[in-house]
Amino acid sequence: MRRRQHVNPLGLGFTRRRARPPEIPTGRVLEIEIGCADAQFLFERARLEPDRFYVGIDIRNQLIDDVNRRARDEQQPVAGVFAHANLHLAQLFAPGRAARVFINFPDPWFKRRHHKRRLLDRELALAIHAALEPGGQLLFQTDVWGIALDAMAVLDGLDDELVNAAGPWSFWRGPNPFGARSWREQHCEEDGLPIWRMLYHRR
Ligand SMILES: C[S@@+](CC[C@H](N)C(=O)[O-])C[C@H]1O[C@@H](n2cnc3c(N)ncnc32)[C@H](O)[C@@H]1O
Repeated sequence: MRRRQHVNPLGLGFTRRRARPPEIPTGRVLEIEIGCADAQFLFERARLEPDRFYVGIDIRNQLIDDVNRRARDEQQPVAGVFAHANLHLAQLFAPGRAARVFINFPDPWFKRRHHKRRLLDRELALAIHAALEPGGQLLFQTDVWGIALDAMAVLDGLDDELVNAAGPWSFWRGPNPFGARSWREQHCEEDGLPIWRMLYHRR
């Protein structure tokens, strides 16, 4: 079946629907990826720490169906949720429920008139902050310089709420500290493209 390459996150359909919260086994430490696509990153995380639970959110429902089919077939502790992170994050998770949130390589929307479709803004950053437990971590990574700068302006701009692990207004130096790679991350590394990473924790 044909997979849609891009979905306009400002499409009207999303504002009319509610997202269905995933079933998270009680007592499991939770990690969330926003914009997970095929959730390669979460499946790799699940192999490293199988006692945790991993939820991927995406606005492309066919990809989410694939993620859930794979999780079932391989009996992995991973669940996909068809939802719009900017609208639905607070509906999906109780406050303080997540140990980690990942945003890996969000869509760049290069054209200026499309910049308003970009994922991370102050409202989403505050919703992520609310979903994290105290000390919980947020990793943001991208290969697009403009996206990295905008993300840092938002995330370091919340300095009473999130602490930058590399120091204020600084990028994380070194490889991904979580031992897994998303599909886009793998391709950037294999092609020698730069990657800008930011790591924060909730106060
Ligand atoms: C460039 S892909 C990156 C996929 C994966 N994280 C990786 O690094 O390979 C960005 C993904 O974010 C999803 N996305 C875009 N806006 C979103 C939103 N508001 N809520 C949830 N997912 C979103 C897209 O559908 C797409 O699958």
